[in-house]
Amino acid sequence: MTIYSIGLGPGDPELVTVKARRILEESEIIVVPQSDETGRSVAREIVLRYVSEEKIMMYYFPMNNDRQELQRRYRELALKIKDLLGKGKRVCYVTMGDPTIYSTSNYLTEKLRELGVGVKHLPGISSINAAATLVSVPLCVKGENFGVYEMPPDAEEAVNLIRRHPTTVFMKVNRRLPVLIKAIETVKPEKAFLTRRLGLDGECIYNMLNGAPPPEAAYLSVAVIRTHSGKR
Ligand SMILES: C[S@@+](CC[C@H](N)C(=O)[O-])C[C@H]1O[C@@H](n2cnc3c(N)ncnc32)[C@H](O)[C@@H]1O
Repeated sequence: MTIYSIGLGPGDPELVTVKARRILEESEIIVVPQSDETGRSVAREIVLRYVSEEKIMMYYFPMNNDRQELQRRYRELALKIKDLLGKGKRVCYVTMGDPTIYSTSNYLTEKLRELGVGVKHLPGISSINAAATLVSVPLCVKGENFGVYEMPPDAEEAVNLIRRHPTTVFMKVNRRLPVLIKAIETVKPEKAFLTRRLGLDGECIYNMLNGAPPPEAAYLSVAVIRTHSGKR
């Protein structure tokens, strides 16, 4: 009664770990979360590089922020997985990046454990690491720490967060790009990049010190900001 929850990395199929690949190949059913009603899923494309389509079971999670509906969907999926495990199937669940970072895996794991199902997590390369390495900005050097946040709704809060760490990472920028732009203009950091579609078609780096990125740049993006030598 154990399922693997696998991190697939940021998008480049070559950044799937060797162990994740082995578990994918050994699994009989691979549950792939989907938040897009059209059925598009980056995770699905990555999985298809390593296993055949018949093994894939897509599972839709609506993006409408209705907590009750989401909880119901997680529980429903957990029950389905428990049933499959009970029938002796080898099942795994995949998510993009690392399964412990802003991931549906965290909620599903809770529901599975409530039902007595064990979950083993396999780490994946997070988009945080992919973004920082793409722009060659250290997340931290000796004696430092760094901060990772969802993009906050107002510029004052963003400024405070940027000033809190030598390096700050903002995820889920999306429609809050104007907030990020305003915060960068206020702080004037040493470096500020918006990285988009890491490891995927259309991968892009915007140097925000050279001007504001277009609105579409913020979809599936990670911002990496370094203040002056870490000093405020
Ligand atoms: C629900 S979180 C998932 C994070 C994931 N578990 C991880 O470790 O990277 C989704 C956010 O992760 C970031 N993200 C994930 N994959 C990305 C990619 N390939 N390119 C750019 N950003 C990505 C974006 O900030 C996006 O809004």
